Amino acid sequence: MIRINENYTKLKASYLFSDIAKRVNAFVAANPDKPVIRLGIGDVTEPLPQVCVDALHAATDEMAQRASFKGYGPEQGYAFLREAIAQHDFVARGCAIEADEVFVSDGSKCDCGNIQEIFSEDLRLAIPDPVYPVYVDTNVMAGRTGANVDGRYAGITYLDSTPANGYVPAIPSVATDLIYLCFPNNPTGAVATKEQLAAWVAYARENKAIILFDAAYEAFIRDPEVPHSIYEIEGAREVAIEFRSFSKIAGFTGTRCAYTIVPKALKAYDAAGNAQSVHALWTRRHTTKFNGVAYPIQKAAAAIYTETGKAQTKALTDFYLGNAALIRAAMQKLGFSCIGGDNAPYIWVNVGRDSWEFFDLLLNKAQVVCTPGAGFGKCGEGHVRISAFNSRANVEQALERIAAALK
Ligand code: MLT
Repeated sequence: MIRINENYTKLKASYLFSDIAKRVNAFVAANPDKPVIRLGIGDVTEPLPQVCVDALHAATDEMAQRASFKGYGPEQGYAFLREAIAQHDFVARGCAIEADEVFVSDGSKCDCGNIQEIFSEDLRLAIPDPVYPVYVDTNVMAGRTGANVDGRYAGITYLDSTPANGYVPAIPSVATDLIYLCFPNNPTGAVATKEQLAAWVAYARENKAIILFDAAYEAFIRDPEVPHSIYEIEGAREVAIEFRSFSKIAGFTGTRCAYTIVPKALKAYDAAGNAQSVHALWTRRHTTKFNGVAYPIQKAAAAIYTETGKAQTKALTDFYLGNAALIRAAMQKLGFSCIGGDNAPYIWVNVGRDSWEFFDLLLNKAQVVCTPGAGFGKCGEGHVRISAFNSRANVEQALERIAAALK
């Protein structure tokens, strides 16, 4: 008799954003005359930068000619993209990352969901709360937790991010092995200082642990003091993996391209206590289970590293940050305390009441979709996340509607 993976029964019935989409679709079906503005899931709305479009066209034409046609590419990504990433995103910032430490993929969600399978089943997890739900759910699927009791899974050390600690969690008092961090943070938009990241690196080194550092929103950092990469911290190459994505920097949520950095110096240990190369394990996993990102997409991604590409992607992130500033100012004017929106495309609003109730209120009275904080964890209760990914006209209209609904 075929049996299921029982760990799946510990999960909530559906993924947070599917749950929200269901509620919104039901509202739209019942109210076809009330147009909804979506500031919930962080999905981009503006078209691809022109450099990416030009590169896509040119690469598609190459695929149409026998002489330049390409079949399977290297699973880890073409050298032209891996070299551009290493040079522009890391070496230029003083981080010693080499091209063969870059693994190109079709998304950070997939990478941060998949990476845990190269580590032991019984490791000790440290996961922030609130958090991007993928970190928790993929570990539940893998059997690393007990049941969900009162909104929390047994077996996880939760790293609380609250108004009291400025939404940057403290180092835990217990030892853990695999630590998830995300800065600029999804969902709160908070950023970590160099000193705060240095404390995490020191903790990881002391505990022979690994940090999974999700930097998908790095391109939104404007404060020159805020680190863009965990590798700006000395010693991080031995204890950290970093995830980056082209989704939010260049409008690739539908185009699909991301990458993960696994330094060759990174070690994890076998049952006998011998150090093993994490780079070798991830190479084995990636080349076995992934066939590479399409050549034209990788060409489009590489185009953002040209001078024109840099200017166009900066304009794109500036545009969304302009939306974020409007949202944050409008919510503060309504009396809510907020963080985020200055170095991140998300505004985390302390609404001081049940977050699903506030979500329903905005949907029903303003036809605006936000994300209820409780969906990101227990500490998210009392908050909502508003995304800056939409057109300026929609953001302005949404803010007018919210102000009218809350009067
Ligand atoms: C979000 O809204 O949190 C993001 O769009 C999720 C993602 O990037 O997968």
